[in-house]
Amino acid sequence: MLRRLHKEQPESFAFTPANQAWAEAQITKFPEGRQASAIIPLLWRAQEQEGWLTRPAIEHVAEMLDMAYIRALEVASFYFMFQLQPVGSIAHIQICGTTSCMICGAEDLVAVCREKIAPKPHELSADGTMSWEEVECLGACANAPMAQIGKDYYEDLTAARFSEILDELAAGNVPTPGSQIGRFAAEPATGLTSLKEFESGHTRFNASVQLATDIGDTIKRIDGTEVPLLAPWQGKAANSSAKPKPAKPAQTPKPAKAAKPEPAAETAPETLSAARAGGADDLKLLKGVGPKLEQTLNELGFYHFDQIAAWTDTQVAWVDTRLKFKGRIERDGWIEQAAILAAGGETEFSKRAEKGTKHKE
Ligand code: FES
Repeated sequence: MLRRLHKEQPESFAFTPANQAWAEAQITKFPEGRQASAIIPLLWRAQEQEGWLTRPAIEHVAEMLDMAYIRALEVASFYFMFQLQPVGSIAHIQICGTTSCMICGAEDLVAVCREKIAPKPHELSADGTMSWEEVECLGACANAPMAQIGKDYYEDLTAARFSEILDELAAGNVPTPGSQIGRFAAEPATGLTSLKEFESGHTRFNASVQLATDIGDTIKRIDGTEVPLLAPWQGKAANSSAKPKPAKPAQTPKPAKAAKPEPAAETAPETLSAARAGGADDLKLLKGVGPKLEQTLNELGFYHFDQIAAWTDTQVAWVDTRLKFKGRIERDGWIEQAAILAAGGETEFSKRAEKGTKHKE
């Protein structure tokens, strides 16, 4: 299938403050020069926010990750999980049309979609609340035919039950996901043939259905307020060292404060126009500094370990704002490392780097 940008696009895109804070935290997971690795989660969050991936959203994510637009578009257009056209405001229905589902009635489900939603896939229903498409195997073949609606699977479907599900969704209700004929999991439809002693002992729902029911997010989009932002490497998450506790629904998460600290006062450190006689130090011996970051440091006027070791807090803030990844200096302990290296010592990292194993970090 040809996957192209939709012909009608909005003027602009911006993450909500909560999603922006979340996205910035994701980027800090990756090492210097590898921030493009965050593209899938960021595109996914943009899609969760808007319902589909707009061109401005793809470009916005590309800019955040310092990528060419075409690279971001390649990712967005390659993966079918990214919707490049508007989807129903209530739900986008994905019917599995692969072998098991097809021989068990997927075509009947598609017929229901054509009748109740729109004649063609990726078209909005007349009221804009639903859309549908046929997808490849979703891995629930033993419970065919099935459909993914939002984040959950509806299995063992018949055309009649599927039609009811669409009606329930249209009425503002979310039917319980999982098998629609009462199967606990993927046991034989006629009942267990072995391990029968467990039959009466299990819970009402299997773990997937129970979680879907508990969370209640089958068709709710992620909006950045679900759980407090956990970014312990940024040094701010309150429970970074403690075992995570179940979120209390009544509590209001406070992610923005953790991800966006007040700007620190800055003072410019002393810089050099070139390395001193004897040549520049190999700043890549500092854990967290790669070739690109070393070049940036050199361009800023830093060539030697003793320069970095002498930075004060306000000077760190000055350098921080000129690097792509705020907080890295403190997180990786550059000043402590630089002090050891400037005094002629070695760090664990510099020993490994000098042995040529730095690329494995
Ligand atoms: Fe439909 Fe595998 S064939 S889930």
